Amino acid sequence: MITARNLADLESAKKSLNAKILGLVPTMGALHEGHATLIRKAAAECDAVVVSDFVNPTQFNNQDDFRTYPRTLESDGVFAASAGADILFAPGVEDMYPEGSGIDRKVFDLGGIDRYGEGPRRPGHFNGMAQIVTRLFDTVKPDKAYFGEKDYQQLAIIEYFTKNLRYPVEIVRCPIARAADGLALSSRNSLLTAGQRAAAPGIFKAISRAVEYVGKMSVDDAAAAVREEIDGNSFLRTEYVEIADEATMRPVSSWDEAQGIRLFCAVYDGNVRLIDNMKLK
Ligand code: PAJ
Repeated sequence: MITARNLADLESAKKSLNAKILGLVPTMGALHEGHATLIRKAAAECDAVVVSDFVNPTQFNNQDDFRTYPRTLESDGVFAASAGADILFAPGVEDMYPEGSGIDRKVFDLGGIDRYGEGPRRPGHFNGMAQIVTRLFDTVKPDKAYFGEKDYQQLAIIEYFTKNLRYPVEIVRCPIARAADGLALSSRNSLLTAGQRAAAPGIFKAISRAVEYVGKMSVDDAAAAVREEIDGNSFLRTEYVEIADEATMRPVSSWDEAQGIRLFCAVYDGNVRLIDNMKLK
C-alpha cells in the first residue's frame, strides 16, 4: 500500500496503479471494523482502492470536537492495508483547502434533506461534508465511492448532490456494521466507560423493536415507545427519535405516507453522542 501525503503523491500513486475501476472510501481516520467492511467491499468490486484519511475541519460545528477528534494515522495505514486498500490518501489541510483552513464559502444545494435529523442539531455540518466529499471526488476522480448506512442522512445527501452536480461517480451503499450485541460500530464507542458500553446496546434493542410497531400503533406512539424504552436506561438520554421518509428525511405521521420509512435517533450515553437508524418499512 502507498501512503500519499499530498496531491502530487496521489497523482503518481494513481498512475503507478493504472486501475480501470478506481474505488474511493472516504474516512476521517480512527479506522475500525465498520470502515473495514467498506474497504473490503471496495477491494472486491474495484481494481484499486483509495482510502482517504482526513479530519475535515469544515464539517465540525464544534471546534473542540475537531481538536479532540482521534488522529491515528500510523495504525490507520496498517489497518487500511490489511482490509485491502492500495492507497491511503492523507492530505494536509492546505491540500484540500488551499484558500485557508476551515473556509467554507460555497453553499451546496442539499435538496432539503438536511432540514431534519442531524441537520438542525449540527448547523453547517452537512455543507462542510459536501465541501470535502466533492473535493475528494475532484482530486481522486473515483469510479465508485463507498459510504455506510450508519450515517444514513449523509448518504442520502451525497446521493442527491452527486446526481445534481452530475459527478460520474457510482455511490455504493454499505450496510451498518454492528458489534455482536447490536451496537453500531463507531470511533466514538472507544470513549465509553464500561458501564456506558454495557448500556449502549439498549439503543439497538429499542429501535429493533420498532419494526414490530409498524401498522400496529401510530407513528407518534411508536416514536414515543422507543424514546421511553431508551430513556428508561439510566445511562441513556435521547436527543431525538424521528420516524421519517428515508428519501427526504421528512418525518411522517402515518405508515403509508412514504414508500421507505426509517427510524433515526441520536442518544447521549453519558456525554458520548451516538447515532443509529433502522429500516422500518
Ligand atoms: P467517518 O465517520 O470516518 O466514516 C467514514 C465512512 O464509514 C462513512 O461512510 C460512514 O458511514 C462509514 N461507517 C462508519 N461506521 C460504520 C458502521 N458501523 N457501519 C457501516 N459504515 C460505517 O463519515 C465520515 O467519516 C465523514 O463525514 C466523511 C464522509 C469521510 C467526510 O469527511
